Amino acid sequence: MILVTGATGFVGAHLLYQLAETNEHVRAIYRSEKTIEKVTEVFSLYGADASLISKIEWFKADITDVPSMIPAFYGVKKVYHCAAFISFNPKDYREMRKVNIHGTAIIVNLSIDAKVNKICFVSSIASIGNSIYGEPSTEENEWNSQDDNSGYSITKFGAEMEVWRASQEGIDVVIVNPGIILGGGFWNAGSGKIFTKIFHGLKFYTEGKTGFVGVKDVVKTMVFLTNSTIKNERFILVSENKSYKEVFFLIADALKKKRPYKRIHRWKMELLWRVSSFLSIITGKEPLLSKYAAKSANSTSLYTSKKVQEILPFKFQTIEAVVKEVSENYPTTLS
Ligand SMILES: NC(=O)c1ccc[n+]([C@@H]2O[C@H](COP(=O)([O-])OP(=O)(O)OC[C@H]3O[C@@H](n4cnc5c(N)ncnc54)[C@H](OP(=O)(O)O)[C@@H]3O)[C@@H](O)[C@H]2O)c1
Repeated sequence: MILVTGATGFVGAHLLYQLAETNEHVRAIYRSEKTIEKVTEVFSLYGADASLISKIEWFKADITDVPSMIPAFYGVKKVYHCAAFISFNPKDYREMRKVNIHGTAIIVNLSIDAKVNKICFVSSIASIGNSIYGEPSTEENEWNSQDDNSGYSITKFGAEMEVWRASQEGIDVVIVNPGIILGGGFWNAGSGKIFTKIFHGLKFYTEGKTGFVGVKDVVKTMVFLTNSTIKNERFILVSENKSYKEVFFLIADALKKKRPYKRIHRWKMELLWRVSSFLSIITGKEPLLSKYAAKSANSTSLYTSKKVQEILPFKFQTIEAVVKEVSENYPTTLS
């Protein structure tokens, strides 16, 4: 039995499809019925019919609530832990700690009790340390708690520490650290929102550069690593390092829309996040731009996936190919 947390999220839904195609029994955690529709949408991108989704055993639970999670572990041998709270709003920091660190500690404790064989944890490049001399970061780059880290970065690193604890307790673990994941199905959240914004005429771009990867490559790699004998290792998943400008232009071209044409310079972003954060204090609303989103939009962080590419039996799709494929599935009727 395989347990998937975060199954109703972007990565989880694509992973479920990958797993549902095999004949293994999959139990998927959800919190609200309406989020399962998102999974159905993702399955339809693959041309799958309802019979495939009906193979999944849905289990209602919250990863921060131990009593609701205990029965989810009955008979489980492998865990894919994708659930997380992703936010760059400073107000969400406490909740992020609860879901990302405390929630992962619960998954680890219950995995130990249930004698789970292997955990695959989805971390992020946010918990990989920066390179000092500008060369691409590897899995060996230690995350530095003294850096100006976002709350998201702190909690993903904290979650990794919990997963390493599982390895100390005898459970095999693999951790994947993807860059920005591009894929279809969640058009109003995460990277899907970039496609939607560009489709509706996004004007702005920034020159920051980071690692990108396609969601299909992420979930295929997770399944490969979990089914392999590889254990207690982490792997950066990045197909290419690209600037936001390059990726935005690729998306605009693939969607046959106008390319964003106004560059926002670093100083403007610095000003914008401060104004946005001030307005948020006054209005109580979410800031439109957070300090860390502004920072990453104009900074360069490079990564290499050499380690995983040396063991995978397939090559990651180029970002151009990913963007083309995702754009072909973009629902043009979406408002
Ligand atoms: N997307 C990216 O570009 C990216 C890049 C690098 C790493 N990652 C990592 O990949 C993982 C998946 O990200 P994603 O993009 O799929 O995020 P997502 O679409 O926001 O999905 C998050 C999932 O976590 C679930 N969740 C959140 N809090 C929970 C709780 N208390 N109990 C149970 N489930 C809970 C959500 O459930 P509901 O549906 O009920 O809200 C949802 O299924 C995360 O660990 C993230 O850090 C993502």
